Amino acid sequence: MDLNSSHDLNERIDSFLRKRRENGSFRQLRTSESSDETLDLSNNDYLCLAKHPLVCQAACRAIEEDGCSSSASPLLTGYRPSHAALVETICAWFGTSRNQVMLWNTGYSANQSIFTILPQKNDLVLADRMIHQSMIAGILSSGARLIRYPHLDMQRLESLLVRYSGQRTVYVATESVFGMDGDYPDLGKISRLREKFRFFWILDEAHALGWYGQKGTGLAEEQGVLDAVDLFLGTMGKALGSSGAFTIFKNPQLKDYMVNVAGHFIYSTFLPPSAALAAKQAIELLAGWKRERKEWQDQSNCMRTKLNHLGHSCGTGDSPVIPIFFNSLDDLAIAKEKLENSRMRVSAIRHPTVPVHSPRIRISMRSDLNGEDLAGKIHEGLE
Ligand SMILES: Cc1ncc(COP(=O)(O)O)c(C=O)c1O
Repeated sequence: MDLNSSHDLNERIDSFLRKRRENGSFRQLRTSESSDETLDLSNNDYLCLAKHPLVCQAACRAIEEDGCSSSASPLLTGYRPSHAALVETICAWFGTSRNQVMLWNTGYSANQSIFTILPQKNDLVLADRMIHQSMIAGILSSGARLIRYPHLDMQRLESLLVRYSGQRTVYVATESVFGMDGDYPDLGKISRLREKFRFFWILDEAHALGWYGQKGTGLAEEQGVLDAVDLFLGTMGKALGSSGAFTIFKNPQLKDYMVNVAGHFIYSTFLPPSAALAAKQAIELLAGWKRERKEWQDQSNCMRTKLNHLGHSCGTGDSPVIPIFFNSLDDLAIAKEKLENSRMRVSAIRHPTVPVHSPRIRISMRSDLNGEDLAGKIHEGLE
């Protein structure tokens, strides 16, 4: 063993961790226990489906019939009837065909694979500055050029398209609802830009699935532009109350391509059957909810309005993700502690997950909560 290099490594790691501790961005694992007395506003179970009796029963049935694991990667024997059944349900939900839909173990691995594999060395990816780290990680390892446009800035996106279109293959990547900001771009505008500039549009609907659209398939459905999306990503560990992810490819050949080359898919034990059947059951439930979606959006809107009115800073909107911004890390830490003392579990989000100047408490709105009451409770907790 080369003692010198091991010594360097220790020093490097030590210095990194010390800096993180000093600037308040040190990350630590904590066990989160479920408690009936604490209101959990920190997870992404927006529609309360993770503990829905029918969803739990579907998972239990899958375990009884098929065991706790798929026990193999999907191209060997891990792709089971429960996975095929979930794909059929997604096809019926979105009105697509089975050769366009692909399941993944996580949204992270789906994004990382897609962005590593599709863009190539001389291509260009135009991405919203705030996209999820899984997409950034993929783009950076693809070798393609990445230009990040300011958050939600459609004018800037258009000027980049004017400048670069026609010279190389261009991809545009965005989330619909942004996971840390709760806002979203004008998808209609992106669709019109796509018509004009012919780029490849990748849309991550992780935080919009279930919450928007007549059928609950997300914001692209709600804004009438689903047909323009080249690659759609939905995750199953958030509103669907399960785990894993799916992608829908406008061009079915891209699915065949990913199945042939995506290492995260080919060389990893596949999603457990219980996760597939839980997600299938969740989709069947939420696809039937129509009026409710508008009510949840109204509650979210109402919560922001009231919080802003009470002197907090949380922007406007109707998505399930509600940030409350603070001026300093000290204020953030105090707010988190106060809310926890008032029996509300929340996440404190700091740099590098969000820009250094905008630390925030991230609140997940849930379908079982009243926006006005919740805003009052949070305000009292923060007093
Ligand atoms: C926008 C977005 N995409 C992808 C992911 C990753 O999904 P998963 O949790 O299934 O890995 C997340 C996770 O938080 C996310 O917020």
